[in-house]
Amino acid sequence: MEASERPHRRSWSITVRRARADDKEAVLSFATRTWDGSDYIPDVWERWLAATDGVLLVATAGGAASTAVGGRRPVDADGAPLEAARAVAVARLTMLSRDEAWLEGIRVDPRVRGMGVATDFQVAELRWAAAHGVRVVRYATGPDNEGSHRLGARHGFALLGEWRWYGVDDEDEETPPPDAAPSTGGVTIVREVDGDRWWERVTADPTLRRGHDLYERRAWALQELTEERFRGHVARGQVTALEYRADGADRWALAIARDEGWGDEDPALPASPALLVGDGRAALALLQALSGGQPGVPRVLLPDVEPPILDGGTVSAWAAAGWRPRDRTLHILTRPLDAAHPLPEPEDAALLEMEEDPRAVARHWSAPS
Ligand SMILES: CC(C)(COP(=O)(O)OP(=O)(O)OC[C@H]1O[C@@H](n2cnc3c(N)ncnc32)[C@H](O)[C@@H]1OP(=O)(O)O)[C@@H](O)C(=O)NCCC(=O)NCCS
Repeated sequence: MEASERPHRRSWSITVRRARADDKEAVLSFATRTWDGSDYIPDVWERWLAATDGVLLVATAGGAASTAVGGRRPVDADGAPLEAARAVAVARLTMLSRDEAWLEGIRVDPRVRGMGVATDFQVAELRWAAAHGVRVVRYATGPDNEGSHRLGARHGFALLGEWRWYGVDDEDEETPPPDAAPSTGGVTIVREVDGDRWWERVTADPTLRRGHDLYERRAWALQELTEERFRGHVARGQVTALEYRADGADRWALAIARDEGWGDEDPALPASPALLVGDGRAALALLQALSGGQPGVPRVLLPDVEPPILDGGTVSAWAAAGWRPRDRTLHILTRPLDAAHPLPEPEDAALLEMEEDPRAVARHWSAPS
C-alpha cells in the first residue's frame, strides 16, 4: 500500500478485551482467507480460546468514546457503518516462559485495514505482556510482509534476524518416500547425553550464538535456550547427539526435540527438531538418522541465512542428501519491555479502550514433571 493510498486514521475507538466463544463468527469472517484464500486461524481458534498459556485478544469497533455524545460512530475505510461491539481484529499473546512472550495470529478485518487498528491493538497486546512481567516480546513474520514489519516498528520492535528452512517444504511439496535405510555412516547415536559435557559445547556453538540463543521449543515460536531448559530436555530424553573423529578433528552434532508441535503434524513423519547444532557433516548424519531414510524430512529451521553450521561447503552435502535451502525464510522481531523500553502510548489515548485492566491471567508453559 502506498502511503498516498492509505485511508485516514479512524476517528472511532477500538475496545480491546479477551476473546469469547461468541466472537468466533466475526473473527473467522475476516481470518479465514488471509493468504491465497487460506489461513490457519480457523484450525487454532478453539485451542487458542481454551489455552491457559496465553491470552487471545479481540478488538471491537467502537466503545464508550465512540458512542458518547459527540463521539464518532465506527465506519470502515470506505465510510460504511460498522456494527458496534463486533470484533474487527484478533491476536494472541503466548507466554513461552516466565519472562518471554510471543505474539502471533494478528489479523485485522480488511474493511478497516490501514486505519491504525493494529497500531492501537498492539499497544494493548504490549500492556497485556507487561502485566505478565515479561522482559521481551517477539514475533515472526515473512520478510515481504511490509504491513507486519511497519506495524512492529511503530512500537519499538526491531529485526533480530532471518531464519531459513532446509529440507522438504511442507507448503508445496509431497513428502518423498524413504529411499534409504537410516544411516549414520557407522557412527553411534547418543541418546543419553551427559548434560554437563554437552551443555558446554552447545552454549559455545556458533550457530546457536548466531541465532541469539533462540530455539523452537514450541513449533512456530522461538525462545531462549537456557542451561535449565537444556537440562530439562536432557532429563526428558529429548536430546540426541553423535560424535566421532574424522580428518583429525572431533565432530559432533546435537538435536533437541520439540516440546510442542503445531498440532497438524503427521505422526508418521519425524518431527522437526527444536534445535540442531554442531558440525555440519555430523549434523547431516544426525538428521539422516532421525529421518527414517526420508530425504529432506524432517525439515530444519536454521538461524541466519548462512549459518555457521553450513560453513565450508557443507550446504552442498546437505542439498545432495535432500536438505536443500528453501527460498522461504522467516524474520524474527524483538522488543524488550524494561525501564529503557517502556510501554508505548497510543497516538490518541481516546481511541484505545481496555475493557478490563490487563493482569497476569496466563500461566507460562512448564515442563511436565
Ligand atoms: C498487518 C495488519 C495486521 C496491519 O493492520 P492495520 O490495522 O491495517 O495496520 P495499521 O493501519 O495500524 O498500520 C500499521 C503500519 O503498517 C503499515 N501497513 C499496513 N498495511 C500495510 C500494507 N498492506 N502494506 C504496507 N504497509 C502497510 C501502515 O502504513 C502502518 O505503518 P506506518 O505507521 O509506518 O505508516 C493487517 O494488514 C492484516 O491483518 N494483514 C493480514 C495478516 C497479517 O499479515 N498479519 C501479520 C502476520 S505476522
